[in-house]
Amino acid sequence: MNFEFERSHYALGNLDEAELPAGPLDLLRDWLREATERGCPEPTAMALATASAEGRPSNRFVLVRGLSEDGIEFFTNYLSRKGQELTENPFAAATFWWPLMERQVRLEGRVEKLTAAESDAYFNARPLESQRASAASPQSQVVESREALERLIEQFPADGPVERPDHWGGYRLIPGRIEFWQGRPARLHDRVVYERKDDGTWTLSRLAP
Ligand SMILES: Cc1cc2nc3c(=O)[nH]c(=O)nc-3n(C[C@H](O)[C@H](O)[C@H](O)COP(=O)(O)O)c2cc1C
Repeated sequence: MNFEFERSHYALGNLDEAELPAGPLDLLRDWLREATERGCPEPTAMALATASAEGRPSNRFVLVRGLSEDGIEFFTNYLSRKGQELTENPFAAATFWWPLMERQVRLEGRVEKLTAAESDAYFNARPLESQRASAASPQSQVVESREALERLIEQFPADGPVERPDHWGGYRLIPGRIEFWQGRPARLHDRVVYERKDDGTWTLSRLAP
C-alpha cells in the first residue's frame, strides 16, 4: 500500500503573534470552543502520553472534562497503566488534533490528582451506567472474557446508587509548555509555543514548521 499521494492542502487560518492572548490556556479554551461549535467529532479528545520510571512511553486518548487557570482535567482509573505510570513519573504530554480546523495543540507538564471532592463531583454527575462501568472495570488488567467483565458490572446495583471508588478519579495536567499549530499552504505551517517562566508569566516564540 502506498500513501505517497495522500496530501492535504491547509488554508483555513493563520497565527499572528499580535492577536494572541498573553496566557495559552485562554487560547486553548477558544480553540476547544471553536472545535465544538464547528462540529469536530469528540472535540475534547486528546492523546495522552505517559512514561514509566525507565522512560518508556505509552499513549492513549482521554477526554478533557475541565479547563481551569492551572491546567486541563481528565478522569480515569488510578490503577490503570497510565495511572501507574503517572505514580512513577508524574509528567505527561498531550496532543489535540482537529482536522476540520487544521489545528494541533501540544501540551507538556506535571500531572497531579484532583481532590477527592472534585472527583466525587464529576463522578456523581455521570450517568449511572458510566458509574457502574468505571467502578467495576479493572482498567488495563487482563480479563478472562467479555462475560466475566459483564459479571463484574452486575455486582453494582442497576438502579444505583454507586459510590466513587478510591481508585477512580481525576488528574490535572499543569502545562509548562503549550504549542499551537495552524496548517498553512505549501507546508509553511504556523507554530507558536508558550513557555511558563518561574514567575508564572509566559514567553511566546515562533517555531519553524
Ligand atoms: C476518544 C476516546 C476517549 C477516551 N476517553 C477516556 C477517558 O476520558 N478516560 C479513560 O480512562 N479512558 C478513556 N478512553 C480509553 C483510553 O484510550 C484507554 O483505552 C484506557 O484509558 C486504558 O488506557 P491505559 O491502559 O493506557 O491506562 C478513551 C478512548 C477514546 C478512543
